[in-house]
Amino acid sequence: MGQCPTCKAWGAFSEEPVIKNVSSSGAGSARRSYEQIKPVSINEINADEDERIDTGFEEFQRVLGGGIVPGSLVLIGGDPGIGKSTLLLQAAGNVAAAGRSVIYISGEESLRQIKLRADRIGRLSDNLKFVSDTDIDRITDMLGQKHPDLCIIDSIQTMHTEDAQSVPGSVTQVRECTQRLMISAKTNAIATFLVGHVTKEGTVAGPRVLEHIVDTVIYFESGDQFGYRILRSAKNRFGATNEVGVFEMREEGLREVRNPSEYLLEGRPVNATGAAVTCLIEGSRAMLLEVQGLVAETQFNLARRQANGMDYNRLSMLIAVLSKRAGLNLNALDAYVNIAGGLRVTQPAVDLAVCAALISAFKNKAIPSDTVIFGEVGLSGEVRAVPQAEERIKEAAKLGFGRVIMPEINVNGLKRSGTDVAKLGIQIEGIRYIGELFAVL
Ligand code: TYD
Ligand code: MG
Repeated sequence: MGQCPTCKAWGAFSEEPVIKNVSSSGAGSARRSYEQIKPVSINEINADEDERIDTGFEEFQRVLGGGIVPGSLVLIGGDPGIGKSTLLLQAAGNVAAAGRSVIYISGEESLRQIKLRADRIGRLSDNLKFVSDTDIDRITDMLGQKHPDLCIIDSIQTMHTEDAQSVPGSVTQVRECTQRLMISAKTNAIATFLVGHVTKEGTVAGPRVLEHIVDTVIYFESGDQFGYRILRSAKNRFGATNEVGVFEMREEGLREVRNPSEYLLEGRPVNATGAAVTCLIEGSRAMLLEVQGLVAETQFNLARRQANGMDYNRLSMLIAVLSKRAGLNLNALDAYVNIAGGLRVTQPAVDLAVCAALISAFKNKAIPSDTVIFGEVGLSGEVRAVPQAEERIKEAAKLGFGRVIMPEINVNGLKRSGTDVAKLGIQIEGIRYIGELFAVL
């Protein structure tokens, strides 16, 4: 059918042919008796963790929750051309250099192409072997024979099994191939990475249909046009999610950015109006970045609002709060907010900095450049507490900032918990209402 009779979408149907599977419950396979299933006490299960495999990238390690777990199945999703193959080739090179065996299976590039890329990245160890193939059954048989510590499948969309009729890249093929690789990973204890391209028009046959099968899902996203890349865990059975790792694409491959705050604040104009520095928590790490605001007389009947890197509705709400609770009337003005560096911010902790940037733009007065601002803003104009305030303050102090403007509630919380605020080496100003922002700025 071309069109779905329910949701009216065109081309949304995907073929799901029955797969002839020899081991499935055929008539002959005698029903196994329940006695064969033996529940085990939780205390008897041996859960000593095997040593994790080091990828050689601190940023990658953290996103994985401390390294690659032997026998785990990890999906790396991202737009074509973002650098998935490059990242995995470099990581594979590091793992091989540390003495482990690695097999890199490419269904997209010929051995010659991989060699050209590898040469650019640098010297690679002999422990790193390459295969150019797309037949998943042949591949899993080979893996069962060779028993590498790590294997990379680039990409899952190019793999196919003859047991399914549909074309490579279809939902059926992708799911079936992943299932087979899962069995291979678990039975042979081969840590397996799958590359999955995310297609532009949604995620049909992409990583989405695999998320529940694999142990870990990591997305590789583009930060901005300047070439930095963000690795983000969306699901992780072996560690925390929402951890981020920052990389930079160079001529000679990817390079990790150990201190993203410095990177994100690089080239920040001094004494520019409408710029406020804030501190976010991404996973377990604090990151400073700049929020830019601009207000301009509107050319139309209706004022324009534009939010880059933050939620549009959140921006509208903050503008309403500023006008109603702080007397800053932006009704006849266009307002633009941009999160510098191309990051997408969803944490409300950025609210206060957005308000500060707009106030600064409106008053045409720069915010002192040694100031970091964070806090959530509520509808009554109250400045609400944010989590991990101390980490944020420490990051600001570490980068040489002299002052933080933050929720008073957090300041009190720090004092209550016995933290010596003076010891943090930075001047702290707590505020309770959005209106107080004018005075402290
Ligand atoms: P690639 O790893 O092939 O992307 P993916 O596997 O996610 O499709 O990365 C391709 C891009 O990276 C390509 O546009 C060129 C760029 N690149 C560099 O800038 N430097 C390098 O050393 C390499 C290998 C690639
Ligand atoms: Mg690739």
